Amino acid sequence: MTAIPPDIAERAETLREALHRANYRYYVLDDPEISDAEYDRMLRELMDLEASHPDLKTPDSPTARVGAPPLDKFGTAAHSVPMLSLDNGFSDGEIMDFHGRVQRLLETDEPIFYTAEPKMDGVAVELVYEAGRLVMATTRGDGVTGEVVTENVRTVRSAPLVLLTDSPPELLEVRGEIFMAHERFKELNRRRTEKGEPPFANPRNAAAGSLRQLDSKITAKRPLEIFCYGAGLMRGLSPETQGKLLADLKALGFRINPLARSGLDIEGVLEFYRTLLEERSGLDYEIDGLVIKVDRRDFQERLGAKSRSPRWAIAYKFAALQETTRIRSIEVQVGRTGALTPVARLAPVSVGGVTVSSATLHNEDEVRRKDVREGDAVLVQRAGDVIPEVVKSIPSQRDGSEKVFEMPKDCPVCGSKVERAPEEAATRCINAECPAQVKGRIRHFASKAAFDIDGLGEKLVNQLVEKGLVSSFADLFELGQSDFEALERMGSKSSANLVSAINDRRKISLERFLYALGIRHVGENVAILLATRFGGLDAVMDAPAEEIEAVEGIGPEIARSIRQFFDKEENRRVVRRLMEGGVMIEPRDQADETKEGAEALAGKTFVLTGTLSGMTRNEAKAHIQSRGGRVTGSVSGNTDYVVAGESAGSKLDKARKLGVRVLAEDEFLQMIEEA
Ligand code: IVH
Repeated sequence: MTAIPPDIAERAETLREALHRANYRYYVLDDPEISDAEYDRMLRELMDLEASHPDLKTPDSPTARVGAPPLDKFGTAAHSVPMLSLDNGFSDGEIMDFHGRVQRLLETDEPIFYTAEPKMDGVAVELVYEAGRLVMATTRGDGVTGEVVTENVRTVRSAPLVLLTDSPPELLEVRGEIFMAHERFKELNRRRTEKGEPPFANPRNAAAGSLRQLDSKITAKRPLEIFCYGAGLMRGLSPETQGKLLADLKALGFRINPLARSGLDIEGVLEFYRTLLEERSGLDYEIDGLVIKVDRRDFQERLGAKSRSPRWAIAYKFAALQETTRIRSIEVQVGRTGALTPVARLAPVSVGGVTVSSATLHNEDEVRRKDVREGDAVLVQRAGDVIPEVVKSIPSQRDGSEKVFEMPKDCPVCGSKVERAPEEAATRCINAECPAQVKGRIRHFASKAAFDIDGLGEKLVNQLVEKGLVSSFADLFELGQSDFEALERMGSKSSANLVSAINDRRKISLERFLYALGIRHVGENVAILLATRFGGLDAVMDAPAEEIEAVEGIGPEIARSIRQFFDKEENRRVVRRLMEGGVMIEPRDQADETKEGAEALAGKTFVLTGTLSGMTRNEAKAHIQSRGGRVTGSVSGNTDYVVAGESAGSKLDKARKLGVRVLAEDEFLQMIEEA
């Protein structure tokens, strides 16, 4: 063995320390101090040093993040303290029962406080630190013995390899959940599908599959993260409460869920549950409930555990967002753009408290990829307020009677030919007069974000089109009371109401008008961008594609689609007929956003978080964009303002950390009014 020159050993140590710190700032605090390039440069230098002096390499070197040589199989190790599971509660009543039990068993007059934490839906692990260094990581396994996945866990950037302290505890066993964030999960699945590999069914499966790789170099390429929430054996650390344990772990460099709250009484816990339930769909990771823990650790000890779960904690579960059911049939629907969408008709099943009886299968390729057949048992999911979808089929439950889906060759509504453009996933009916397309366009035209015609719902639109009373939106403004009276279940009163509802809507803002036209790729946001930039309808209709494309937020494909729409004589004719029928576009300076206002927030980047009481998120976004500002999804050093509504979560924490200006709802309103 050649001796390592002291200056080189010293340099390696300096680099290791700097890299650990940079890693912690980036992955745990989400608040980097050095650039990615600087990080890469230091990592490369350390890798070079370690390559030329192999004795320099330590197991907790930041270079270990890239993975170690593959294993033949995982070893196993017993947990020094069993990793228990949790009892579940599904209602306030069950949580109050839990609280009652705790009070009774403790026989104390002292108030009982709780720490409540989001229940991460990932994979439980235990990380063992001796003298401040990660020496072993295990999965939960059966709770008594787990698999040793040390090298894999070393690749998880938010799991510390060394603790951030000069006087580390002698022994520290930390427990936490390894998970994959939604966006990363989608991106991983997208890449897998591209390569012809089977996608993961959900983020938890993706996390579990990635963690249990014998080759940790594969794990290293998977975007895994960790939140820590508990401890096994500790020597040299003795927090008195769960809240203090979390704070101690945080100070040592562990990543703790910023939404965790301590010092809550039981009413506070129930309130927090409701807040979290509302925030759930906005989080970028999966949670399936709230874990409620008696805060005082001496109380925890007195309460003890049953065979599988502690008496001092309970999981207040959210309703599941995935369920299994069976596909009764696959139908094909035709939308307003002519796209044929296969839709699974399901045996009704309750998913997260909502009955689901149909789910979209998106398009032909998706049906093939998921190998979904009529009669199949399937996993369905509902996420937030999006349309339910079929996640995958369960082929092991097939009995041979299932039918493979074929995309029809003709439109199931009008019988015209269907076409699929080579670069597109959608198969489309080519007949613009197809009743399904006409109905879809009219429904869109009358919808809330467009002309917002009260009472003109799907059933009425269908009848109007089927009776030949309406074939384009311009026809709507020519309808009289007697036309409506001829329809099913329409009396003279409701008919008169509808006519006046339509009349009331003749005056409209430019952005709503543009959105209502149903131009492909022109959603509410693009419509606002167009209205802001061009100010009037004629200017939009005649703008060259390059000018449209020059609008920030509008790409070439959108610009082309807008141009194509207005180049078609029939579309220009419909617009003319609307104007002749009395539709009036409010001039921009009379609409609520003035032209000067449009400039007022130019160059400013906003992030919205939490619930605003006076407007929806889309409205807030529209206000910002119509004044020239930008709205992005995540807080970074480039964010100018974070608008924080009720129960704002991790984005607010991040804003505070980064020193980004936070606006309360009233401050935001004031800014909008002044702009
Ligand atoms: S505490 C004795 N806290 O839930 C306490 N568990 O059903 C046991 N989990 O295996 C665990 N987030 O994988 C705790 N904040 C959290 C959690 C959490 C997710 C998981 C963990 C555990 C399972 C128990």
